[in-house]
Amino acid sequence: MTCNYALLSQVVSSSGLSPGWPPMMMATAAMAASSCDRGDTRKKLQITVVFLVRTLLLACIIARGVLALIRVAFRVAVVAPARSLVAVAGAAFSAVNARCAWCLEQAALGRSCTGTVLGDAVVGAMASSWRLLLQGITSLVFLCARGADEYVRPPPSPLVLTAHGKPASHPQQVHISMVGEKNMRISWVTDDLNAPSVVEYGTSPGKYTASATGDHTTYRYFLYKSGAIHHATIGPLEASTTYHYRCGKAGDEFTLRTPPARLPVEFVVVGDLGQTKWTASTLSHIGGGGGDYDVLLLPGDLSYADLYQPRWDTYGRLVEPLASARPWMVTQGNHEVEKIPLVEPHAFKAYNARWRMPFDAGASPSGSNLYYSFDVAGGAVHVVMLGSYAGYAAGSAQHRWLRRDLAGVDRAKTAFLLALVHAPWYNTNEAHQGEGERMRRAMESLLYEARVDVVFAGHVHAYERFTRIYDNEADSRGPMYITIGDGGNREGLALKFIKGHKSAHLSEFREASFGHGRLRILNETSAVWTWHRNDDQFATVRDEVWLHSLAAGEPAATVASAAGGGGGHPADEL
Ligand SMILES: [Fe+2]
Repeated sequence: MTCNYALLSQVVSSSGLSPGWPPMMMATAAMAASSCDRGDTRKKLQITVVFLVRTLLLACIIARGVLALIRVAFRVAVVAPARSLVAVAGAAFSAVNARCAWCLEQAALGRSCTGTVLGDAVVGAMASSWRLLLQGITSLVFLCARGADEYVRPPPSPLVLTAHGKPASHPQQVHISMVGEKNMRISWVTDDLNAPSVVEYGTSPGKYTASATGDHTTYRYFLYKSGAIHHATIGPLEASTTYHYRCGKAGDEFTLRTPPARLPVEFVVVGDLGQTKWTASTLSHIGGGGGDYDVLLLPGDLSYADLYQPRWDTYGRLVEPLASARPWMVTQGNHEVEKIPLVEPHAFKAYNARWRMPFDAGASPSGSNLYYSFDVAGGAVHVVMLGSYAGYAAGSAQHRWLRRDLAGVDRAKTAFLLALVHAPWYNTNEAHQGEGERMRRAMESLLYEARVDVVFAGHVHAYERFTRIYDNEADSRGPMYITIGDGGNREGLALKFIKGHKSAHLSEFREASFGHGRLRILNETSAVWTWHRNDDQFATVRDEVWLHSLAAGEPAATVASAAGGGGGHPADEL
């Protein structure tokens, strides 16, 4: 059957019948024989191809098996021991560092850590040496990673480390934040993990007519384990009203005042606060000499804990007198990130646990603690808190949310629209040049189209006020840009401004001094901004400018005055 036509052809040829056969039949037999030959060749080819493919597949399977074995052997023999070694080294490093930091902290608090003066001196010297060595290595690594053009700041100011000398169940680090216009979140920490997350409150001291129960969380970071971080939301509350409250049914009574339901309203704005003597000076001016205020806005860089978590606790205690009395609305800076590849892969761990903001409340919840918005004074002021260290590119969650949020603002009701970022979009200081540029390119048009009145930034440790700007040009319909990163952190001031900077002609006042700012919105059309410099025990007004709301539809007029001589650049280089 394999080749019947070929056999037939041979038989015909040998029998001598072929001359008698019709030519057509002979041709058919010959063609049949030829076709039969091609069929054999094709079949052999098919068998060969199948064999090769199967061989190749088998080789692949064997190779995968061998590679898997090599991988397992590599993990067992190299990776696991290396990780263990790194973990042990990290734990040892953290333990030594934590011990040294504790000794220095005790010394700063005037306490003994050894029981003898000589012992304290020896341990203190060793701890200082270790910390200096650690700071040197860290700076070297940081410098190598960032490049040689990184800004070098002057020596740091001494830290102000605030202790908690009360029982473990007593609240500490109390701070409050607005949740909508009728409610207030109370946040506090207890060393006692079983302390209740309850706030009792009322309008008379010691007489609590209402209470609210919240929840608590904890987190771990290296060897550090936080206390119980409590959050409870009280309300509804009356506007412009003083409430007395107690956290966890223990400890001191605190007092807060709710913001007004309508204008006027006053904001304090201060960034890059930290916890130094400079910080303490700024806080004293905010709480005392600078006068009263309704809401504090902080455009990032809070504690400067910089991975050493007990600094978050000392910071919380330092700001408690102010932060427990008025809402502190904050957004994140680079010092809140605290992400370490492989070791602490989750960014903002401490910040998100301790400083929970109303991202899930109001008319446009953002879904992220890193950016959100809120209304003040019955919606006469809308504040947008943006995240310089969250995704902000077109199409990102933050960008989509910002577009939605601004679309929902009715400028017939909202007289003033404010925005906060950390890294400034306009900056003539040598420090952090261009770091906000990508965010500016991504979001500036959204703010401009919504007629945002003022954009506040931090990050640069100095004060700078620009005119109204859009896309690097003066524009009376654009926001005024103000950098206010001069709260007083341990890194010191950003002393040098660039005279020939491309934005220098847009910069109306700049000075490298510590201080804070105040925005008092008087009515639907007018507000006044003042910058208060820390002059020892006095808060001196160095810059003042009047703003006309962009919602009013008139060309924005600003009238500036400065103690240094009518605006300009009183301190280009200090
Ligand atoms: Fe910063």
